[in-house]
Amino acid sequence: MVDRIKAAVLGATGLVGQRFVSLLASHPWFELVALTASSERAGKRYGDTVQWLLETPMPSNVAEITVAATSPDSVEEAEVVFVALPKEAAMEIELELARRGKIVVSNASNYRLEPDIPLLNPEANWNHIGLVEEQRKKRGWRGAILKVPNCSTAVLTLSLKPVLDKFGIRDVHVTTMQAISGAGLRGVPGYVIVDNIVPFIKNEEEKIINESRKILGKLENNTVKPLEVNIYATTTRVPVLDGHLESVHLVLGREPGGPKEVIEAFESWGPRPQELGLPTAPEKPVIVRREPDRPQPRLDRLNGRGMSVTVGRIRLSGRVLQYLVLGHNTIRGAAGTGVLIAELYYKIKINGLI
Ligand SMILES: NC(=O)c1ccc[n+]([C@@H]2O[C@H](COP(=O)([O-])OP(=O)(O)OC[C@H]3O[C@@H](n4cnc5c(N)ncnc54)[C@H](OP(=O)(O)O)[C@@H]3O)[C@@H](O)[C@H]2O)c1
Repeated sequence: MVDRIKAAVLGATGLVGQRFVSLLASHPWFELVALTASSERAGKRYGDTVQWLLETPMPSNVAEITVAATSPDSVEEAEVVFVALPKEAAMEIELELARRGKIVVSNASNYRLEPDIPLLNPEANWNHIGLVEEQRKKRGWRGAILKVPNCSTAVLTLSLKPVLDKFGIRDVHVTTMQAISGAGLRGVPGYVIVDNIVPFIKNEEEKIINESRKILGKLENNTVKPLEVNIYATTTRVPVLDGHLESVHLVLGREPGGPKEVIEAFESWGPRPQELGLPTAPEKPVIVRREPDRPQPRLDRLNGRGMSVTVGRIRLSGRVLQYLVLGHNTIRGAAGTGVLIAELYYKIKINGLI
């Protein structure tokens, strides 16, 4: 690509917004042209107003950008708009931007289950991007809304897909241990989470169940038929900064020959985004650790630049498979997958498929 595609981030001062900024500041295909936040920050220099919390320094080329109040006009110059707003702030503006012809890639939870809106975890269901055609026909707009899954769902489904393809899955039992960054910059007060585990996250279990079924479902006749599988989820918040760890217990459709065959299924998985050479696709979407005490959030969350999930503690008993999976919630679970979705969209568009 010679000319870079102009991009904006809505909600650029939040935790997901900061990840978008850091991934897009030197992206080979996209050029950041607009950053927005709430109206109190309008007119301020990004570098002065943001409370930068990432482990890497703020990219110098974005510090000078003037933050705009979030509105459709504020991102007029951009062709692709990455959304890191709370759901309530995202709903209306996403529709208006798609009407104006923008490619909207959103982390907000609204519309994820709408039948004509693709919910994409690219390695697991890249072909669902075909729903864009149906969306445009039905809604009469030139743009598109593409959704990033819930953070725990993104991590879980990346590990489920190679197992599903190889052995089939009947039941999924998952218990999550979710980082505090998953609740946003002002999400969980220190007094609540330090020295503690909170055994409830509002609406999270429903999201894991419904979104996983859609992501793992089949696209047929311009609609996704959700995967018929029993999913039982328990979600908890733990005092970890970044990285969701999930304990997974599966009943498989057929019995693997042994744990080696399961490891082989994870490690040999080479899905489409990797074949297409998308810049944000990690070399290995699923990494397997053999040590008995891995994966761990602090040690494994940045594997594959935060885009790989790490699986460990694989145990097999007949058709019952158990393992733990870890993924970075603001990269694989949010902004990184958002950028990967945009890359997939433009790659497929260039090939004339959308
Ligand atoms: N954190 C995660 O791991 C994660 C993972 C997956 C999905 N998500 C989703 O991604 C979105 C962003 O999450 P986050 O964790 O980054 O939240 P956050 O840290 O609270 O950031 C929210 C951003 O939205 C802006 N904002 C809030 N209310 C607004 C309004 N009414 N009008 C305009 N701008 C507004 C904020 O601007 P100010 O700074 O000016 O207030 C900030 O830039 C949410 O929908 C969340 O559910 C988060």
